[in-house]
Amino acid sequence: MIFDLVISNGKIVSPRKTREGDDIAVEKGKIAAIGPRGSFPRAKEKLDATGKYILPGVIDAHVHFREPGYEYKEDFKTGTLAAAAGGVTMVLDMPNNLPFCCTVEAFEKKLALVSPKAHVDFGLVAAVTAESLGEIPGLARAGVNVYKIFMGATVGGVPAPDDGGMLSAFHRVEETGLRIGVHAENTHIVDYFTGKLKAEGRTDPGAHAASRPGVAEAEAIQRAILFARTAGCRLHIYHLSTREGVRMVRAAKAEGQDVSAETGPHYLIFDDSQMRQMGGILKINPPIRSRDDGAALWEGLLDGTIEVIDTDHSPHSPQEKLQDDIWKVIPGFAGVETQVPLMLTLVNEGKLSLNTYVKLVAENPARLFNLYPRKGTIQVGADADFTIVDLDRQGIIDQDRLHSKNVVTPFDGRQVKGMPVCTIVRGNIVMKNGEIAGKPMGLHIKPLRS
Ligand code: DOR
Ligand code: ZN
Repeated sequence: MIFDLVISNGKIVSPRKTREGDDIAVEKGKIAAIGPRGSFPRAKEKLDATGKYILPGVIDAHVHFREPGYEYKEDFKTGTLAAAAGGVTMVLDMPNNLPFCCTVEAFEKKLALVSPKAHVDFGLVAAVTAESLGEIPGLARAGVNVYKIFMGATVGGVPAPDDGGMLSAFHRVEETGLRIGVHAENTHIVDYFTGKLKAEGRTDPGAHAASRPGVAEAEAIQRAILFARTAGCRLHIYHLSTREGVRMVRAAKAEGQDVSAETGPHYLIFDDSQMRQMGGILKINPPIRSRDDGAALWEGLLDGTIEVIDTDHSPHSPQEKLQDDIWKVIPGFAGVETQVPLMLTLVNEGKLSLNTYVKLVAENPARLFNLYPRKGTIQVGADADFTIVDLDRQGIIDQDRLHSKNVVTPFDGRQVKGMPVCTIVRGNIVMKNGEIAGKPMGLHIKPLRS
């Protein structure tokens, strides 16, 4: 048999083990066979992964690629090119677009608009607002991957339903079998402190975190957990940032509730002292918090409370980011291209194992968002998505070399050790040694029914 692609001599990494000595054969975009070295001598294309680790394709389940409506910040082409360059084979794109992606009509238009531009596979997240509750079943039929409620006001201004609407949304989502995620911040608390700090004349970077205290996140998480338990729906907490939030998610899981949580590299690497130095560049919602909060996130990652690493890739123009008055700065920054090297650096530092990393960025997101075992695993029959990494390669993150339309990142200039060297999506090599190859071939991946 002549296979389309054979990858040989690499070390294959799963959440449970790292094994050497097997080759991988790919046919028609799927993993066709895995067998001892040399088993598949005939291939149209051969890739020698000697000295490299082969990871299941890395999924970033939280990106903002901004189409339609905010293409000056990012678009699907530049966003998915950045993903490919960064070793990411699939993304889930957020709905705070213009119009909001919250109706079947908006979803279908967005899908048609972005599909021809995708260089990696993708799923789409639909927003739920008070007016769009009735769209929930239709969105599931149309192939939406995840739902999202923005409980706290943030970029794009997607309004939250009131508590009754949120509970009703959770009941409707339960019937779809899909998961609903929440941006968990209590708007009333945020509005109150923002008003107070502005009235006091504060414009310094520290005022941002002060205006969105941890209790605002914790209160929203507690409410979402309670409503999800009442409705029996599957819940995801986006960008967890507080010790109290970790405690609540851990407790709900211990009681058997299907609640998952993610955090991002920025919450694990920075703390609020850097916010004072970096100012608006590091401004994001929810904010970067204390060292103690960061330590709690690490504990949560290592004990399984936090199941996913995502980036919240949310690019803005330099004018929007580089302002002295912290209230004028728009929250968010680019991240999809830098997650893999940043996290591999932490692997090299001994903060987590490569196997745990694979669980956090491949197997868990695939399972939680109804993509497993098509995605998230190296096994026969799965999509041939791989992130091949060189754990010894060193480099410096240089924002001017990133592929996003807007590249302001707090990680600019940071030393990394461990980099993606090849990105493969359904057997297509989309990045090799930093060079991006090929035409857009990314597909919308519909959720699998469990
Ligand atoms: O900082 C943020 N930026 N937080 C969000 O929730 C949205 C995001 C964006 O879209 O820019
Ligand atoms: Zn986000």
